[in-house]
Amino acid sequence: MSEKKRMLSGIQPSGELTLGSYLGAIRNWSERSDQFDCYYFMADLHTITVRQVPADLRRRTLSQLAAYIACGLDPEKNTLFIQSHVPQHAQLGWVLDCYTMFGELSRMTQFKAKSAQHAENINAGLFTYPCLMAADILLYQADLVPVGEDQKQHCELTRDIATRFNNVYGDVFTVPEPYIAKVGARIMSLSTPENKMSKSDTDPNGCVYLLDEANVMMKKFKRAVTDSEMDVRFDPVNKPGISNLMQIYSCATGRDYAAIEAEFAGQGYGSFKKAVGEATVEMCRPIREETQRLLKDKAYLESVYRSGAEKAGYIANKTLRKVYKKVGFVQP
Ligand code: TRP
Repeated sequence: MSEKKRMLSGIQPSGELTLGSYLGAIRNWSERSDQFDCYYFMADLHTITVRQVPADLRRRTLSQLAAYIACGLDPEKNTLFIQSHVPQHAQLGWVLDCYTMFGELSRMTQFKAKSAQHAENINAGLFTYPCLMAADILLYQADLVPVGEDQKQHCELTRDIATRFNNVYGDVFTVPEPYIAKVGARIMSLSTPENKMSKSDTDPNGCVYLLDEANVMMKKFKRAVTDSEMDVRFDPVNKPGISNLMQIYSCATGRDYAAIEAEFAGQGYGSFKKAVGEATVEMCRPIREETQRLLKDKAYLESVYRSGAEKAGYIANKTLRKVYKKVGFVQP
C-alpha cells in the first residue's frame, strides 16, 4: 500500500481547455504525483445534466484526456480514467441520494445558478449532481480534493454526507479535506480584463484556448483590450489589460515584470501584443502537437483509460461492496 495521501479530482469534458486553466492550475499538476497518489477522471456522467451533442461529448472526452497527458500528467504516475467506465460511481450515487436531504440540495448555489441558466431543462440529475460528486470522492476514500471556489460547497456537502453515513454504519468513508491548490497565475479575459478568463465569456476573443491554432491565437491577442496610455507597466488596478498580458508573457517566457517593462520601453502596445501572442503560441505549440499526436494514437489512449478504469474500479468496487453490505443488501 502506498503511504501517500490520495487525491482525486473530476474534470467535466464540457468545453475546451483554456489558457487560464492551464496557467492557473493544470501546469502545476504534474508535480503533484510526487507527493500524492493522484486520480483524475473525465466526469462524463456529470456533463449530461445539461444537454450535450453526443458526438461532441465523445470527442471532447478523449481530447481532454489527451490534452491532460500532453500537459504533463503522466499516466504511469497518475490514474486517469473515464467516469462512465467505472459503474460504481452511478451505483454509489444512488445510495447517497438516499442519504442526502432535499433541503441540503436546494441550498446549493450552483444548482440555483444552473437552473436559472437552463430554465427549460431543470432535470432531477441537475438537482442530485452533488450526490454523484460525493460518490466520486468517497468511492476512492480520497483524503484530498483540490477545489476551486465554485466547488467548495459541494465538497462541504460531501463531508456532511460521509459523516452522516459513518455515524450510522461505522467508519465506512474517509472524510475528505479540501485541498487549496498552490495558486498559479490568475489569468483574466483579454476583452474584459476585470473578469477571469472563462469559456463562458460573451466575447469569443476574450478567451484563449490551449488548442487554438496559431493564427486564431494571434488574432485574439491582437484584439486584446489595453488602455489609453502607451507604456508597458505592471499596474493591475489602473492597467488591467496590459498587466494581464504581462502576466501571460511572464508565464510563457519566465521573465519578471521589470525585465518585461525594460524590454518594451518606448515601444507601442502593438509590438507588445504581438510578442505576447507569439510567446503564447510557442508555449502552447508542443501541447497542441502532442495532443493531436495522442488523439491519432487510439490504441495508446485506449490503453491509458482501460488500465485507469481497471485500477480505479478495483478500489471503487471494494468501497461499494462495503456500503451495500452495511445498508443491508444481500451479497450476490
Ligand atoms: N463538479 C466538478 C466541476 O464541475 C467536477 C467534478 C465531478 C469533481 N466530480 C468531482 C471535482 C469530484 C472534484 C471531485 O468542476
